[in-house]
Amino acid sequence: MSRTILSPRIRTALVTGAGGGLGRAFAEMLLAEGVEVWGTSRRPDSLPMRERFHPVGFDLVAGDLAAEALIARVERESGGLDLLVHNAGFGVFGGLLDQPLAVWRAQLDAMLGVSFALDRAALAAMTPRRRGTIVNVTSMAAEFSIPYLAGYNVAKAGLVALTESLMFEAGEAGITAIDFRPGDYRTGFNKSMFAAPPSSCSDSARRVARRLDAILAAAPRPEHAARDLRRALARGRSGVVRSGSFFQTVLAPLGARLAPLALRRAVMARYFAAR
Ligand SMILES: NC(=O)c1ccc[n+]([C@@H]2O[C@H](COP(=O)([O-])OP(=O)(O)OC[C@H]3O[C@@H](n4cnc5c(N)ncnc54)[C@H](OP(=O)(O)O)[C@@H]3O)[C@@H](O)[C@H]2O)c1
Repeated sequence: MSRTILSPRIRTALVTGAGGGLGRAFAEMLLAEGVEVWGTSRRPDSLPMRERFHPVGFDLVAGDLAAEALIARVERESGGLDLLVHNAGFGVFGGLLDQPLAVWRAQLDAMLGVSFALDRAALAAMTPRRRGTIVNVTSMAAEFSIPYLAGYNVAKAGLVALTESLMFEAGEAGITAIDFRPGDYRTGFNKSMFAAPPSSCSDSARRVARRLDAILAAAPRPEHAARDLRRALARGRSGVVRSGSFFQTVLAPLGARLAPLALRRAVMARYFAAR
């Protein structure tokens, strides 16, 4: 990344989940652009100490008050937040029968309820200034449900709908809202997803898990997503930005629009080795 194109329009940014994977690549890209970055992790001590980077502790499971407090803190310390990149997220792998309702609810609270609280607080802070950008990192899983990840699929589909609603209201307030929708990227996502596998994993679930690992191992690196985000931020327009391989961002959505639902389901089952 040579020329800086984001600052001075974007001077300050908050990236949730900045310790690894996509979030770290987003934070690095913004730092290279001259932006001052507040980055969160559940273990802020593990984040690097460097110029213009401010580590902040944040846990999605701490709930909406913690999300509001996070935005208030960054507003105060930065003198005004220009960009929120809400990237933190996680998957809980397992069949519907393996997951107690409490686990399902906890994932939706953490990934959807907290997203609402973060977006709402950022929108409230940015509105009086009539400037700012809110990016929600959603997922292609919102369009193509991943087997054995029901809670994740629902949370990301909800986040897509939330971002669509936000786009409308943000537009009225002079604020940009972006649904940044990654396909597969080579990060630690699967490792944390499989950290606590359900004890009663079926053969089909095991097959899908192996396939998901193989897909991620062959996926693009997070820097690719950071370049896409940089371009989207430079454009400064609200909308959906699909990011990933040509197959996942162009061919699959096009095929899905044209193919009948039954064919689409059959292709998906083969792709994920679910049958
Ligand atoms: N990789 C992909 O293929 C892919 C595809 C589509 C969408 N996405 C989305 O991209 C985002 C980043 O994922 P990634 O692929 O970079 O995975 P990752 O390497 O596992 O990173 C996930 C990030 O989220 C944070 N996080 C996880 N659980 C958290 C919690 N309970 N509270 C606060 N932070 C938490 C982690 O921070 P700490 O561990 O430091 O706290 C970490 O920085 C996620 O929203 C994911 O759904 C990823």
